[in-house]
Amino acid sequence: MTKPTYEEILNIKNKVNIVDIVSEFIPLQAKGKNFFGICPFHDDHNPSMSVSNERKMFKCFVCGESGDVFGFVQKYKKISYYEAVQEVASKIGISIKLDTRSKNTSSIYDKQYEIYDISNKYYQNNLNTNLGKIARIYLKDRQITDEMIKHFQIGLSLNDNKLTKLLESKGFDDDLLLRSGIVAKTDNNVFDIFRNRIMFPLWDINGKTIGFSGRIYEGKDSSKYINTMETDIFKKGTLLYNYHNAREHIIKENKIIVCEGFMDVIRLYTIGVHNAVATMGTAVTKEQLNLIRKLTNNVILMFDGDSAGEKATETFIGLSKDTDFNISIVRLEEDLDPDDYILKKGKDKMLYHLSNPKSLMDYKLDKEKKTLDITNGEDVSKFINKVIPTLSKINDDIALEVEINKISKMTGINPSLIKSRIKKDVQNNQKSDKITIRQKEKGESKYDKAAKMILFYMINHNNLILYYFNNLCYLPDDIDRDLASKIVLFYKKYESFNVSDFITYLEEDTKLINRLTEIDNLDYKKEYTMEEIDGYFKIIKEYSNKKQINELSNKLKNETNEVVRKELAKRIEKLIKESK
Ligand code: CTP
Ligand code: MN
Repeated sequence: MTKPTYEEILNIKNKVNIVDIVSEFIPLQAKGKNFFGICPFHDDHNPSMSVSNERKMFKCFVCGESGDVFGFVQKYKKISYYEAVQEVASKIGISIKLDTRSKNTSSIYDKQYEIYDISNKYYQNNLNTNLGKIARIYLKDRQITDEMIKHFQIGLSLNDNKLTKLLESKGFDDDLLLRSGIVAKTDNNVFDIFRNRIMFPLWDINGKTIGFSGRIYEGKDSSKYINTMETDIFKKGTLLYNYHNAREHIIKENKIIVCEGFMDVIRLYTIGVHNAVATMGTAVTKEQLNLIRKLTNNVILMFDGDSAGEKATETFIGLSKDTDFNISIVRLEEDLDPDDYILKKGKDKMLYHLSNPKSLMDYKLDKEKKTLDITNGEDVSKFINKVIPTLSKINDDIALEVEINKISKMTGINPSLIKSRIKKDVQNNQKSDKITIRQKEKGESKYDKAAKMILFYMINHNNLILYYFNNLCYLPDDIDRDLASKIVLFYKKYESFNVSDFITYLEEDTKLINRLTEIDNLDYKKEYTMEEIDGYFKIIKEYSNKKQINELSNKLKNETNEVVRKELAKRIEKLIKESK
């Protein structure tokens, strides 16, 4: 069996009890018809997550996470959707074999995964051949052992085009090989992109190889590293090197160490540090922060000791401003990176650093002290203002008190004055939070609002699904339109509709599921009148009319043929009449 069908998945869902399954992961307590527990998807202190056997759904009314039993297991265990289905099925004795890589039916994505899997094995094998001798000496010189080579799947690319030939012989056509970024083309020749480099495979969050970074090891005349270009399956900014290996260690230790280079991660592994990942350069992205947040909020930043590493540290701190990350920082002496540091100063010094990282507060204080003179009144005020945002993020009141006293001692400013500044800062933040929410609602056009309401009533009243299909059947936004047409399809096929089964039907389509649960969570009255519904339809029709009129007018502007012009003008006129 490849992937289970909707009917099979639904069958599993109907046989299990969502409350039983969820309570295997978090304690639940009955309250009325529903069960409640501490939400595992945000920093929850009161039981905000409700689980309903009747609706077969869970929902957190604080962070908004919601979904069916598979969605819960998927998110809780950080596994793929089908793995979650498999796990839930196994609880009731149904075994599902997942084989997503059957060759004949494989999609263009699956083929690219296969190409990278083959290439990875090929490169690794090269290292053990006669042609790999110099590379092996290089690795040995860098104190990279066979065990490290094996664990991190380090390989070698050669300069003989054999990989291209190998992949061609396995039936992959040149267009696909080009698209996958493993070969390049000049005139009519395709050839290996990576030549004479030590190869480091880059994996996605599930451990599938999706790209490579190749390092030179002889001579110095070309760039140190080259990476796979961005492809369908490889987006560098959305990855963290070693994430899949480190995942369980990060969860267990509830802590992650973030470095710049993969050599740092590899070296840390040799001294028993297994919860490290690398950003692969100094550009840090929001996607990378999201990957981290799924596993822990305790982050140790250990970028290179040089000024670029300092900048990356700042970027990371800036990007995580609105998260609940608890950041601490290691700055290594002598501009060293973690790899060099371990080799030069030894394991113990590195482990000391890692168990004594600087708190974000101390890091800030040190940094501001470098540029401001805190014996000078004007600078003291600036200094306090600079460190206030970091102070106001401290939740623990004792820790806060300690920091305030420290700053008071440093600057001679009265603790109560510092406290009042903090209070002001918190109030300002709350105000700006409210403004952004209001702006978001304001920013919603009447068309967006109408589409949202139409979807809201469709999912709450089966009869309105066909009414939408027969009388409108169009929404301006791609996702909304897709969602609406899938609701219609589902309803026509199964002759009834409920949100929970529909979520199961959508399987992995997270975009649609997110929009659906957002709408399902809206706190509007469920009763409606046909006047209201028709009113919303009218707004959408007005939008689509306007859009068509605009498009036709543009065509008219550029059209020279008189007959066609007349035809266009007639159609515009008709649309204008209709919209009145
Ligand atoms: N990097 C890159 N392209 C480059 C240079 C660097 O993609 N031209 C990425 C690599 O992922 C590398 C990271 O940035 O792991 C850090 O770069 P750097 O500090 O220069 O590499 P090191 O980890 O020190 O590598 P080495 O010790 O092999 O010189
Ligand atoms: Mn290095």
